[in-house]
Amino acid sequence: MDSTRTQVAVVGAGPAGLAVANLLRQSGIDTVLLEEQSRKFVEQRPRAGFIEEWAVRALDRHGLADQLLREAEQQDRFEFRFEGARHVVRYGEVVEGRHFLYPQQFLVADLVGLHTSNGGDARFQVSDVRLAELESARPVVTYVDATTGRQHRIDCDFVAGCDGAHGVTQTYFPAATTIRARHDYGIGWLAMLAEAPPSADCVFFGIHPRGFGAHMARGPRVTRFYLECRPGDTPENWPDDRVWTELHARLGTPDGPINEGPIFEKRVLDMHNYVTEPMSYGRLHLAGESAHVVAPIAAKGMNLAINDALLLAEAIAAYYRGDPSRLAGYSTACLRRVWQYQEFSQWLSDIFHSGTADPFKARLSQARVRRLLGSREALVAFAQLYLGIDADF
Ligand code: APR
Repeated sequence: MDSTRTQVAVVGAGPAGLAVANLLRQSGIDTVLLEEQSRKFVEQRPRAGFIEEWAVRALDRHGLADQLLREAEQQDRFEFRFEGARHVVRYGEVVEGRHFLYPQQFLVADLVGLHTSNGGDARFQVSDVRLAELESARPVVTYVDATTGRQHRIDCDFVAGCDGAHGVTQTYFPAATTIRARHDYGIGWLAMLAEAPPSADCVFFGIHPRGFGAHMARGPRVTRFYLECRPGDTPENWPDDRVWTELHARLGTPDGPINEGPIFEKRVLDMHNYVTEPMSYGRLHLAGESAHVVAPIAAKGMNLAINDALLLAEAIAAYYRGDPSRLAGYSTACLRRVWQYQEFSQWLSDIFHSGTADPFKARLSQARVRRLLGSREALVAFAQLYLGIDADF
């Protein structure tokens, strides 16, 4: 068995793992990054694409956002569409902040390139990752190199579990001392990507008796659409003509038609949230969706992954400078923003999904939208959470 000694083993090369690996390398801390997919796969895997300005500025402070700042379009408003009308919410006019539209796979490709071109040890196509000795000062990670079949062992000081919602590292948390708080929406979202030019220059959400719909650009030639569907629904139940009928009905307005184009991704999301508390166990620290998932209501997943990564890298660097307190407080620090974003997403989801709900819920949500559209103070409070400004309560 080949063996490597390093300071931090990072499992997972998504936004969380790649940010952690780059930030630790910049602090002079040795890492080995393990990823089960190929480099080519992760650099092309379409996922999220809306980054909050605080996260962009934090990445930029570490020299990780040059390409993003050159290419990303900025967004400062969105539309609610209901009863055949468009209602613009100009959140970027009441606070200092924007969203940066940058497909997640572009950020992943940037971070992989930066890490590997600066000597970072990134190993792709690994399999059978296992952790051991997590409660000792010398945790061990073993894995099989899927291309050679050879077993590898990594002796390290810490493990960063950044392997997402279906990863292996979260399974090492003892049930007796771990809370897994979970919420099921009881609905599905049909998530699609279409080779269609965006139908507007901003995100828009359709609140409709037939169900929720959403439109968000993923670049000048690709649009992401969502359609509320029943839980457990399948893409097979949604042939293209049914999809376009529903998108036109739920999102189109007389002055805001929907651009069609070949649909090249169609999958049903199981709309749920979960949070693992605490996010640390012994020398294993989770960051990103390995610790918490928030349904794509307010584009919070990738921003939380970046927040965790910034906090974890700072905490580990502080440990090696002789201050273990940041690492001891890592989980608590992350969970502040995690729960503010979960609460905000829930609040917004109640608006999105009120079109088909009972009349009482529908009127509650209409009152929320009227307040948001009519009160500057309500819009400021909304904008701060939507953009993650001062959100660590
Ligand atoms: N061993 C090694 N790598 C693994 C393993 C494993 N056992 N299991 C999963 N991975 C890899 C996945 O292939 C993926 O590249 O871990 C990575 C996890 O990345 P993400 O799922 O992107 O999670 P995260 O970095 O927390 O970023 C959250 O990604 O899932 C989206 O929409 C979500 O935008 C959010 C963001």
